[in-house]
Amino acid sequence: MTRYIIQVEDIHYTYPDGTGALRGLSLSVAAGSKTAVLGANGSGKTTLFLCLNGLLKPQKGTICFDGETLSQKRQALKKLRSRVGIVFQDPDTQLFSASVLQEVAFGPLNLGLKKEEVLRRVTRAMEITGIAGLQDKATHLLSYGQKKRVAIAGILAMEPEVLICDEPTAWLDQKHADKIMDLFCRINRAGTTVIISTHDPDLAYAFADRIVILEQGSVLGAGGPEAVFLDDDLLARAGLRQPQVLETYRKLRAGGYLREGFPLPRTREELLQML
Ligand SMILES: Nc1ncnc2c1ncn2[C@@H]1O[C@H](COP(=O)(O)OP(=O)(O)OP(=O)(O)O)[C@@H](O)[C@H]1O
Ligand SMILES: [Mg+2]
Repeated sequence: MTRYIIQVEDIHYTYPDGTGALRGLSLSVAAGSKTAVLGANGSGKTTLFLCLNGLLKPQKGTICFDGETLSQKRQALKKLRSRVGIVFQDPDTQLFSASVLQEVAFGPLNLGLKKEEVLRRVTRAMEITGIAGLQDKATHLLSYGQKKRVAIAGILAMEPEVLICDEPTAWLDQKHADKIMDLFCRINRAGTTVIISTHDPDLAYAFADRIVILEQGSVLGAGGPEAVFLDDDLLARAGLRQPQVLETYRKLRAGGYLREGFPLPRTREELLQML
């Protein structure tokens, strides 16, 4: 039976200026899954993520984490945030320590872990995000892409059960974007549930096992990557294009260049191998 780590039921969130950002949004996230949330600018992705981590409280509806309804009590929120780590869309809102090392160590120190354990986690997080060489650098002097990787390292060092990353590859060059997505796949294989938002259908298709499309604060469509990205009508309504790998595969199939019986390719490499 599927264990849902997050269950969102009909949530509504309106910002103090009256903007209705979430309007009856429902969603379930299976433990150990990889979810990509897509949707136009302003469709509510960031607002949803802030609700999942308890930073915003929906005015209506419920959010359950691991079977328990989110509570706004201080202790409960602290516990939730140690289990659900969020990397903000804009690293400038996340980073506040003087140096990279201090920044990455902040979360694990705050968890009250022993010094050796903090050191182990910080060293590992900096290594796998490729920022070990920057450890003594002042955070405000980093490039934007470096800041994003420091923000990711800081959350990874807390070893959350659920990692939420708002637009993980925005501002990253291709090499670092690929590395971060590989890293997310690796930590997912080790058991972490990963939720990302993205505007990139190619990235979502290659990465996720579940796609959720938001429109004006609610779910327009959701399902497995093949089902969602083969649904031309849904894509048209969402204003999304088909992932290039899938589009090329369909054209090659229609032209008789590919034999039947292959599973749908998820990546460029898989498509090239078929050819
Ligand atoms: N602090 C705020 N105060 C008032 N309105 C806000 C605030 N933050 C977001 N909004 C509004 O809420 C709606 C949803 O915004 P949100 O940032 O969640 O969208 P998004 O899907 O993350 O967009 P993007 O793709 O641009 O990151 C938008 O209409 C936005 O203008
Ligand atoms: Mg956003």
